[in-house]
This record gives sequence, structure tokens and C-alpha cells, in this order.
Amino acid sequence: MTADEFAAMCVPASCTLGQALLALNETGRGMLLVLHPDGRLRRTLTDGDLRRAALQHMKDTAAVAELPEQAPITIGTDATLARVVALLDQHQIDHLPVVDATGRAVDVMLRRELSQRIWLSSPHLGDEETAFVEDAFKTNWIAPLGPHVDGFEQELAAHVGVGHGAAVSSGTAAIHLSLLLLGVQPGDTVFCSSLTFVGSCNPILYCGARPVFIDCDPQTWNMSPTALERAFEWARREGRLPKCVIVVNLYGQSADMDALLPLCERYGVPVLEDAAESLGARYKGRASGSFGKIGVYSFNGNKIITTSGGGMLVADDPAVVQRARKLATQARENAAHYEHVEIGFNYRMSNVLAGIGRGQLRVLEQRVSQRRQVFETYREALADQPQVSWMPEPPGYRSTRWLTCFTLQGANAGQRRDLVLRSLERHSIEARPVWKPMHQQPLFHGAPYFAHDSGDVCAGLFEAGICLPSGSNLTAPQQARVIEQLRRALALAEDGRAAA
Ligand SMILES: Cc1ncc(COP(=O)(O)O)c(C=O)c1O
Repeated sequence: MTADEFAAMCVPASCTLGQALLALNETGRGMLLVLHPDGRLRRTLTDGDLRRAALQHMKDTAAVAELPEQAPITIGTDATLARVVALLDQHQIDHLPVVDATGRAVDVMLRRELSQRIWLSSPHLGDEETAFVEDAFKTNWIAPLGPHVDGFEQELAAHVGVGHGAAVSSGTAAIHLSLLLLGVQPGDTVFCSSLTFVGSCNPILYCGARPVFIDCDPQTWNMSPTALERAFEWARREGRLPKCVIVVNLYGQSADMDALLPLCERYGVPVLEDAAESLGARYKGRASGSFGKIGVYSFNGNKIITTSGGGMLVADDPAVVQRARKLATQARENAAHYEHVEIGFNYRMSNVLAGIGRGQLRVLEQRVSQRRQVFETYREALADQPQVSWMPEPPGYRSTRWLTCFTLQGANAGQRRDLVLRSLERHSIEARPVWKPMHQQPLFHGAPYFAHDSGDVCAGLFEAGICLPSGSNLTAPQQARVIEQLRRALALAEDGRAAA
């Protein structure tokens, strides 16, 4: 519901029953909000209320204030979606007014809207996946591995311009294998971007190694070269350089590779590029994920393309990828009798899922354009909102805008962020805070952290940042609904009318 539609539902208690009937007819919502002069909600007024008034021979010219008193059923601005639905069901109603802490009407929940949830980033299948999956069934290649796995590996590696790929069960598995391939052992140190999903760094713990977290740069939201440099200087002083640096390419955008790679080279430390969120992105013309010694992608259900769950590691060195495949297949030696000399994992992707991946890969570029268009639509629609600052895309970068993200400028950003998120959630719109940095997670308590020159950038992005629904299958009416609710939530957060 737009702000104008909400305003049209609000009438003063001094209006006549005739005027109320007209307003009900025009809004077509079946309910009006009758307000006190100061905006507090006095009661609701429905078709049924007017029918009963007519049966009691009240005149059209009588004021709404003359109707019998009736306490409205309302909900507060901090109510959860579950509470809204419970109240709608309990009272068998389709509309529920929202009031702020002072009793002023600020919104109306509509049952119809709530039943149509808008997701942050849902899977979006193309036309060819079914044919690949059917082929797997027809040829009985249901067992793990098979021709679609080989095909998916070759096609994805070619797409990103890297020599070889190994398809595995998840992005996290791909990172775990990559760390092992880079020689990470118990007691070693691994540098990693702090602003990321835990899947980037849980594998450090699987290896028994110690993470050191690096802040991000406000221009890219990705690893800060100056923070990385200070971390290297510290590590050299301590006499324990990291075994590798996990550079994360966040929310569909590459890190500043021209600044980060020479630093890592200077210290002789290899880069593991976590491009789980950035398949399809480019940096100075080259594919995200193609810069590190090893690159990793995720095909989790929320990613730009999906295999329902899966991942891939890519590298130019065929020996690295061959070894990844071996470790991912229980480290089985080349012997008919299943010979094993080292620890292995059951991490390979199935032929059925690889079939989905091959179909998805064919629409990747289309998905990138669609997500970028989603971002553009948000940017244009909210251009008049000075408190909204979008994730930057510096010159030379081509982000996929996997997720459209922004930060709230101004005071009390954290409180306002929570209020906006609660308001969107109440309207069954899935939005999320920006990742909580790893150096703030209890799991990594005590891990060393190197902030950017200007202070703790990723902590600030977490406090003020919001990720909006960004799926390539987000329809125009759905996006219009998000924009409308967001505008209203931003206005509420701005004027502090709603209780935090
Ligand atoms: C930055 C990042 N790294 C790693 C992962 C792990 O990938 P997966 O979920 O496929 O294990 C994800 C996402 O899921 C991610 O966003």
C-alpha cells in the first residue's frame, strides 16, 4: 500500500457517515481509519459498521463520532509478522492498523500482501535445466560424478577464463579443500576478510588454523589494502606469515586486486579468492574468482546461479584441481581395492546437480543484467532519499549487484536500520542486515583484527547496512511494493514517530 493509499484510508471523526461511505467506496479496502485530530487512532470503520448504522436509522449527515464507541484491534510497530498473522486469524479480519507508541496510526497490514512473501534472493531457473536433469535420469547417471560434472567443470572454468575446475558439494567445501591444497595446517595463520559470511572462514577452523581478520575499504566494501599491509607487517614482526590470504568478493563485487595482489606477492603468500557471491562480476575486464591461486564459487540456493547446493574451485594449475578432486573423493588412491594413504572427504557434486548448473550457466549473463537492473530501479526510485547511500561500484569494476545493499547515513543508524528491517519484515519482505563482521562474532573471539585507516569500517557497514530483495526473478510489482514499504519505513525511522 502506498503512502497516498494509506492517507486515503484515514478520515477525521468529524466526517459524516455519507462522506465515510464515499471514502470506503473510493479506497475499495473495506475499512477506514478514524483519527483523532492529533493523528491517534480512534476506531476503524467498515462496511458492516455503516450497514448497522443505516439499520438503526442513523442519517447520512450524522458524524462518525456519533457511532457507538469501539476499541480498535491494532498492532504496534515492533510486532512480528507471526503476531500480525495470529491477530488477523484470531479476529478473522483482513486488515490490521499499525499504531506507534503514542497511538498514532502509521500503517495498515493487509492479509493479501502478507500471503505473497518477497524473498531476498530466490532461485531462478531457466529453460534448459530440466533437459540436463532429464538426461541424467534417462542415462541413469544419478550416482555422484558423471558427464554433467565434467561438462559443468569445463564450461564454468572456460566462462571465467581459468584453466580447470572441480565441482563440489558447497562453496564451504571448496574453501576447505583450497586451504588444504595451499598447505594450511594446524597452528598456521590465515588472513581473511572480516566482512563476510562465516562460510569463508569456518574452514580455517576445520584445518586447526588461526584466522586473522582484515577490515574492508569503504570504496569497495572489500578487503582494505592498507589494513592488509599492516597485518603483514605485524605478521613479519611476529615471525609468522600467514599460509594464505582469503580475499572475499562481497555482494557481487570484486576486491581491489591491483592493490591486494602485489602486497601478497611481496610477502610470498598465495591468495584464495572467495568469489562465492560474485560469479559473473568483473574487475578491469577479468572475471571475479580468476585472480587468486585458487578461486571459489558457491551455487547455494540464494546465489546468482544455483545447483540447489554446490560449489566449485578453479585454478590454472591442473595438478591443484586434480588433487582437489582426489581429496573430495575420500582421497582414494588409483587402485581397484580402495587404497587410502591420507584423510579425504566426501565433497563431490552429483551428476544431477551439475546438470542444473549447466543449464544455469547458460543464463548467467542474463541474470547479471537482471540483478543490475533491480539495483538501478532501486537507485532511481530512492534518489530523493539523502539518508540512503548505496554500496559503491568504483570505475573499472562491474558488480553483479548480487544483493542491492545500502547504508543509512546520519545519527542512530543502528536503531533506524532495525526499525526499517522490522517494518519490511512485518510486510513479509525479506531484507537483511549487512553481514556481521567475523571479528565481532563470538566464535572468533580474541582473533587478531586489523582495521582500515579511518577506523573499523566493516563494523560501521554492519551497523547501518541493509540488503534488499534482489532476485533476478523479482517482478516489477514486487519491487514496487518493496520500494513503497521502504520509503514509508525510512520516513518513520527519520521522524522517529515509531517506537524503536
Ligand atoms: C562469501 C561466502 N563465502 C562462502 C560461502 C559458502 O558457500 P556455500 O553456502 O555454498 O557453502 C558463502 C555463501 O553461502 C558466501 O557468501
